[in-house]
Amino acid sequence: MKIKAVVFDAYGTLFDVYAIQALAEEIYPTHGADIAVKWRDKQIEYTRLITQSDPHNASGSQYFQPFWELTRLSLEYTLDRLKLNRESGEVEKLMQQYAHLNPFPENLSVLQKIKGMGLTTAILSNGSKDMLASAVKSAGMKDVLDHVISVDSIRLFKTSPESYGLVQQTISVNKEEVLFVSSNAWDALGAAWFGFTTHWVNRQGLPFEALAPRPHYSGPDLKSVLYSLGIEA
Ligand code: LAC
Repeated sequence: MKIKAVVFDAYGTLFDVYAIQALAEEIYPTHGADIAVKWRDKQIEYTRLITQSDPHNASGSQYFQPFWELTRLSLEYTLDRLKLNRESGEVEKLMQQYAHLNPFPENLSVLQKIKGMGLTTAILSNGSKDMLASAVKSAGMKDVLDHVISVDSIRLFKTSPESYGLVQQTISVNKEEVLFVSSNAWDALGAAWFGFTTHWVNRQGLPFEALAPRPHYSGPDLKSVLYSLGIEA
């Protein structure tokens, strides 16, 4: 395998989105898990709705809103849908937590090892530029990432081919020389359809999507990426 660049999804892959479940549970006892899952699903649904409804516009979808805004709107929707009160600053509290998501503990050493192999490292995310910059900074990952690529510039979200295409606009590589790493099965699938070599981080022990192809590699956490690259964790 001739991998030259390892490109990571951000939310769920490098940053622990489901950790907000604990805060949601604190604010809304018994609803934490439901809020976390419904919030995430609605957020991703909005990215697809926006992208799919105006895919050929030369300046991106006219319905585009930065991921940060979609994150807030999908949280508001989720709380309304569950008939939970959100008049006392609950949205702001949860959004602040989202802005400071914890990285997974193994991230830093894995990224250091990958860089040590002389490979290029990057993030490709639906996340807005600002939210990615602050997450990367507070996780101390600035020095181990060569590029942080946001779909902001094209105003189309994953899984549009244009979004995955941003990698080759930034790094000079062939598609199959990119190992695209995501904990989102749908993202690993979209990236494989685009032509990348893929690694699915299956942190939750879920089945892969029912659509082919399966990812080239998978494992339970980020350390498994090192095995895919042929080095010891
Ligand atoms: C991202 C989301 C989809 O970082 O996880 O792109």
